[in-house]
Amino acid sequence: MGLKTPIIIVNFKTYESATGKSAEKLAKICEKVAKVTKVNIAVAVQDADLYRVSKAVKIPVLSEHIDPIDYGAHTGHTLPEDLKANGAKGCLLNHSEDRFKIDDLEKSIAKAKALKLTTVVCASSDYTAESVAAFHPDFIAVEPPELIGGNVSVSTAKPQIITKTIKKVNNISNIPVLCGAGIKTKTDVQKAVELGAQGILIASAITKSPHPGKILEQLAMGFIE
Ligand code: G3P
Repeated sequence: MGLKTPIIIVNFKTYESATGKSAEKLAKICEKVAKVTKVNIAVAVQDADLYRVSKAVKIPVLSEHIDPIDYGAHTGHTLPEDLKANGAKGCLLNHSEDRFKIDDLEKSIAKAKALKLTTVVCASSDYTAESVAAFHPDFIAVEPPELIGGNVSVSTAKPQIITKTIKKVNNISNIPVLCGAGIKTKTDVQKAVELGAQGILIASAITKSPHPGKILEQLAMGFIE
C-alpha cells in the first residue's frame, strides 16, 4: 500500500481551479502544506493532468478512475498501465460521481493490485462499504452523496455512517476507512478522527477557496490538535 495514514486526499474532480496549469499549482500548494504540517496529503487528478502533476510534486498523485481493461482495442477507455506510466500511484474508484458496476469494480481493484496501484474505493453507505470490503481494496472512503459539495460534514450530519462503516468493514478485513462529503473545518476533521476515520477525502473546501493552502493547513491541524 503506497499511502500512509492519517491522510487527506484532495479530489480535484473537474474543477476549473484544479485542472490543467491550475492542477499543477494546486498540487504544489498541497505539497507545501504536507511539508509544513507533516500530515500525509495526496491528490486525485484528471487523467489528462497526471503526467504534469506527478512531475511537479513528490506527494502521491492518484487518478480519479480506471477501467478494468488490458492493452488492446479499447478506444476511449482508461488503461491502468498507462496511468501508472504517467505517474499515478493509485486510483479513486466508484466515486458517487463515477459509479461502477459491481463486477467492473471487482475487476478494477484486482487489476490495480496487480499493477501495485493503491486503491481508494468510495462507498455511498455502510452497506456498500461492506460489499466492497470483500474485494479487499487498500482503503474504503465512505461518502454520503447528498452531503457532497455541501457545507454540513459527514462527521456532523451522519456520524453513525462512519462508525457503522468501520465496524462492518473491520468484520471482513482490516481495511482503513476514510470519510468525505461536506468537510469544511478543522472541527469536521477532528470529529471524523474521533469516530475512527483514518483520513478524509475532500474537494470543494479546497478547490473553491481563494486561499486553498490556508484552508488545507487548518484541516490538517485536525489530525494534530
Ligand atoms: O471525493 C471527495 C468529495 O466527494 C467530497 O466533496 O466537495 O464535499 O468535499 P466535498
